Amino acid sequence: MALRFDNKVAIVTGAGGGLGRTYAIELAKRGCKVVVNDLGGDRHGSAGSTSMADKVVGEIKAAGGQAVANYNSVEEGDKIVKTAIDAWGRIDIVINNAGILRDTSFVNMKEVDWDLIFKVHVKGAYSVTKAAWPYMRDQKYGRIVVTSSNAAVYGNFGQVNYSAAKHALIGFSNSLALEGAKYNILSNAVIPTAGSRLTQTFMVDALKPEYVTPLVCYMVHDSFKDSGKLFEAGAQWYGTLQYYRGEGKVLQNATVETIHDNWKAVSSMDKPKHVASIAEQSAMLMDMLGSLEAEKSSGGSSGGASAGG
Ligand code: NAI
Repeated sequence: MALRFDNKVAIVTGAGGGLGRTYAIELAKRGCKVVVNDLGGDRHGSAGSTSMADKVVGEIKAAGGQAVANYNSVEEGDKIVKTAIDAWGRIDIVINNAGILRDTSFVNMKEVDWDLIFKVHVKGAYSVTKAAWPYMRDQKYGRIVVTSSNAAVYGNFGQVNYSAAKHALIGFSNSLALEGAKYNILSNAVIPTAGSRLTQTFMVDALKPEYVTPLVCYMVHDSFKDSGKLFEAGAQWYGTLQYYRGEGKVLQNATVETIHDNWKAVSSMDKPKHVASIAEQSAMLMDMLGSLEAEKSSGGSSGGASAGG
């Protein structure tokens, strides 16, 4: 069964090239009405032109799809959402994809390198999503994607600014998922790997942006029900990435020396456990405190209970 997007309206930011262009084209091919946002700057965030967004809108229309261009920076999310509302009266899907790089070692990083990265990636996703949110709440329907990066998860040399901003987006999406749940607004993050203007990779064929497209388009489909998750796509591989924590150890009245002496247990990942929510994390802590209390009142003093749940 073909997965269609008829009667749905999407904003894809930074859709004038690279990954965003492929999302816009694929969604439109499946009946979605698409705002193709791109301010048309260079990969460092300078300059701007309308031609990138116009070109993609032209491609979509030539193939029989529906699209309008928007040239605002993602920092002006209200204007981008207004483009969708003016054209079609609703907004169902926001794919926060626009991005730039200001790579430099930390020692050489200027404040402008830090600020610009946070403006485009974090403030941009905030601004567009914030403007779309009231519409999504009212219609009790929304699909949001933010674009993170392997640099966020693992760190990357020369990308202190970028990896910090990309990690911020994971927290942003996870909390939005909780606030959106009762309004049927789902929010998820994607980590793409693709040869594009930003990566300028030599493995262009193996890392086609088109290999990321099906996952991201599925993540904003009606039938998609996950929220607050992190998915990966690249080189025709698709998967999920989650946080795990070690079993740990309860060390009552610990000193610096106690931590030192128990470092093997504290830092061990021999028994990893996925914690799905802050509620589960708190429940584990309460359980552990409960068993300590029980132990105390029964006169026990092992101090070695596990906090791993
Ligand atoms: P790209 O440079 O080909 O596309 C990014 C687009 O965003 C450009 O068309 C650019 O004009 C637009 N843009 C930049 N600043 C904007 C702003 N303020 N307002 C509106 N549009 C703006 O890059 P690519 O590779 O397609 O990246 C897309 C997203 O995926 C970015 O967020 C990037 O950080 C992320 N990403 C990409 C990876 C890859 O392997 N290509 C890896 C990890 C993350």
